[in-house]
Amino acid sequence: MERKWWHESVIYQIYPRSFKDTTGNGVGDLRGIIEKLDYLEELGIDAIWLSPVYKSPMDDNGYDISDYQDIAPEFGTMVDMEELISKAQEHGIRIIMDLVVNHTSDEHPWFIEARKSKDNPYRDYYIWRDPKDGDVPNGLQSAFSGSAWEYDEETGQYYLHLFGKKQPDLNWQNPKLREEIYDMMNFWLEKGIGGFRMDVIDLIGKEVDKEITGNGSKLHDFLQEVNRETFGNYDVLTVGETWGATPEIAKLYSNPKRNELSMVFQFEHMTLDWDEKEGKWRPKELDFKKLKQVLSKWQTELKGEGWNSLFWNNHDLPRIVSRWGNDKEYRVESAKMLATLLHFMQGTPYIYQGEEIGMTNVKYESIDDYNDLEILNFYRDNIKKGYTHEEMMEAIWKNGRDNARTPMQWDDTKNAGFTTGEPWLRVNPNYKGINVENALKDSDSIFYYYKKLIQLRKENDIIIYGDYQLLLEDDEQIFSYTRTLDDEMLLIIVNFYEEKVEFVLPEEITFDSKELLISNYKVDEGESINKLELRPYEARVYKLK
Ligand code: NOJ
Repeated sequence: MERKWWHESVIYQIYPRSFKDTTGNGVGDLRGIIEKLDYLEELGIDAIWLSPVYKSPMDDNGYDISDYQDIAPEFGTMVDMEELISKAQEHGIRIIMDLVVNHTSDEHPWFIEARKSKDNPYRDYYIWRDPKDGDVPNGLQSAFSGSAWEYDEETGQYYLHLFGKKQPDLNWQNPKLREEIYDMMNFWLEKGIGGFRMDVIDLIGKEVDKEITGNGSKLHDFLQEVNRETFGNYDVLTVGETWGATPEIAKLYSNPKRNELSMVFQFEHMTLDWDEKEGKWRPKELDFKKLKQVLSKWQTELKGEGWNSLFWNNHDLPRIVSRWGNDKEYRVESAKMLATLLHFMQGTPYIYQGEEIGMTNVKYESIDDYNDLEILNFYRDNIKKGYTHEEMMEAIWKNGRDNARTPMQWDDTKNAGFTTGEPWLRVNPNYKGINVENALKDSDSIFYYYKKLIQLRKENDIIIYGDYQLLLEDDEQIFSYTRTLDDEMLLIIVNFYEEKVEFVLPEEITFDSKELLISNYKVDEGESINKLELRPYEARVYKLK
């Protein structure tokens, strides 16, 4: 595969609402990001994936866009945006925009027009159906609870919204709509952005009457067209959010020969502790061996035929240190262990804001302390069905999206230094201990560990291009693998749990010399690695020759 800059990059995701407020209105903004570029350069990242900053009524915090070519006033102006792009460039950082084109806001001028009458020229930009037997057209469900169909009094038809009611789905079958989207994308590409993260892009080929949403038959034709008409003409990164992807499907998206996307976000590893039917609101114990199998499968099956992204977190997922680590007595050790496990794999790593300082989930007692539309709909609908408040809160504490969205913890002053006003979402009360200022003062912090992981990736081609091999497949506690390139081998060893465990080096691993690249405990470098007692959440990486 031809080498690309994004094969060798580490991306940092910013959820602008929660990053840094400079105006005192309680909402993060673009100038706040500009202010923190030095911090991001210190960490060593190559690009920022910016969650949506476009004009929006903010029903889904910006994933409901009312003008793709303008900036939401609470975030700043187009001048700020241009400044962010150019200042970031001076820091060696590219800006990846979030592209939300499966749906718009119902306040987008296209939808305002479309709903006026059945023969409005914009009607067909969206998806409308007649009632069936006086009810919804079919059984399609919204990801945010209830039917995906909303009745529109004015014209007596239903429109489709696979997310919130205020997020009507666009009709990609309409070539005029597609052309408008391409013009908009080129507008951004011409501003010098580094690429697009493409929101729920697997849904744009939907076949509504067959109740097919993901992976519709025209999906890949559309993506090839988008590529040809827009980003294919630029040296940019594109990453598709593709929930339903298998490795086979991921190759369709990301094999460079097919001219679609650079890489995908697939979620197979992220859903292993969800109930098969009821999903994240009924979490179950993680099957650790399954996690090994799934991550390994993605490593080997995409090799040479596609490209994966590596992530534990984003703005929709709970904090990994609370989820699969220990966010109390082993917060630092387990956060570093989880980072090690991921950052030595093949793919492009994504770090979600706050992950680099080990930010944790929150447990607010009152539903009024939550903001997320998905959480509020889930709570309201289930309380109606007879569930108790306590049952609902348990699920929200585990998997609610606001876990990831609490404001960034910069220091131990009021509101964690995020805002001088009232934050739009309560700050995690643990900010006095867990914050950037403390992390930067402590050479042993999670922050400097991430910084080192990023540096190691820059210095060792083997991390980017080496072959992957899982070791100790049946071990119940250890995740260990190797990466091999030419005469070098990396040996990654982590104890995924709190209990100590013995690691025995498989006989097939032979070497003349070893060098410890990174570890989350003090290690005697002369120690033999044939047999090791691993401490709670211990992680080590050796380079063997
Ligand atoms: C996926 C985004 O990541 C999520 O935050 C959003 O609510 C949905 N897509 C709808 O745009």
